[in-house]
Amino acid sequence: MGTIKVAPSILASDFSRLGEEIQAVIDAGADWIHVDVMDGHFTPNITIGPPVVASIRRVCSVPLDVHLMISDPESFIDDFVQAGADIISFHIETTNHPLRLIQKIKDAGCKAGVVLNPGTSQDEIEYIADEVDMVLIMTVNPGFGGQAFIPEMLEKIKYVRGMIGDRDLEVDGGIDDRTAAEVVAAGANVLVSGSYIYNHTSYFNAIESIRDAEG
Ligand code: DX5
Ligand code: ZN
Repeated sequence: MGTIKVAPSILASDFSRLGEEIQAVIDAGADWIHVDVMDGHFTPNITIGPPVVASIRRVCSVPLDVHLMISDPESFIDDFVQAGADIISFHIETTNHPLRLIQKIKDAGCKAGVVLNPGTSQDEIEYIADEVDMVLIMTVNPGFGGQAFIPEMLEKIKYVRGMIGDRDLEVDGGIDDRTAAEVVAAGANVLVSGSYIYNHTSYFNAIESIRDAEG
């Protein structure tokens, strides 16, 4: 596989200093900034919405990877496009019309990603996989940072890598220097990591240790 991209999740950052926390991981080598949008309905937690994403955009010099964990994503695509998202990913569990949603995201000039919960089979995206720019495989149940990696997802990563050729395969949840090696060996190339990076004494060392998982 090609190069590993590391996407720090700001969910684990100090929100009272969000701009500095974003700049610090970019200085430490972050490839993308991963933004977790939760609505308290699809997920048992509420995080941030379009106004905060727009503020992040102003201080973020790398691609903004917006992970929508919300019901009715169709109603909010325009808001996140205007806020400055580069990549918008939605959960397959949240829409009856995934192809229409993918087209809406692409027509707005963004890259489109589709996300699978741990309990959702790769079969659910079989007929849409050719249309997306990225597949995101959740390696924890969405809602919170700091949860334990679910090892059964390694098989799903291998399967989806076989479905999507060399397009981006992102993983999200419980990624540290150890699980990074496992997901990369299975076929992932974009690694989201929140608590491992933001709890580390050196953001640079944390990001490098994930990138080095490539071997
Ligand atoms: C979980 C979010 C993740 C989360 C990852 O619902 O989608 O992006 O922030 O956090 P860690 O790396 O701590 O598991
Ligand atoms: Zn996420």
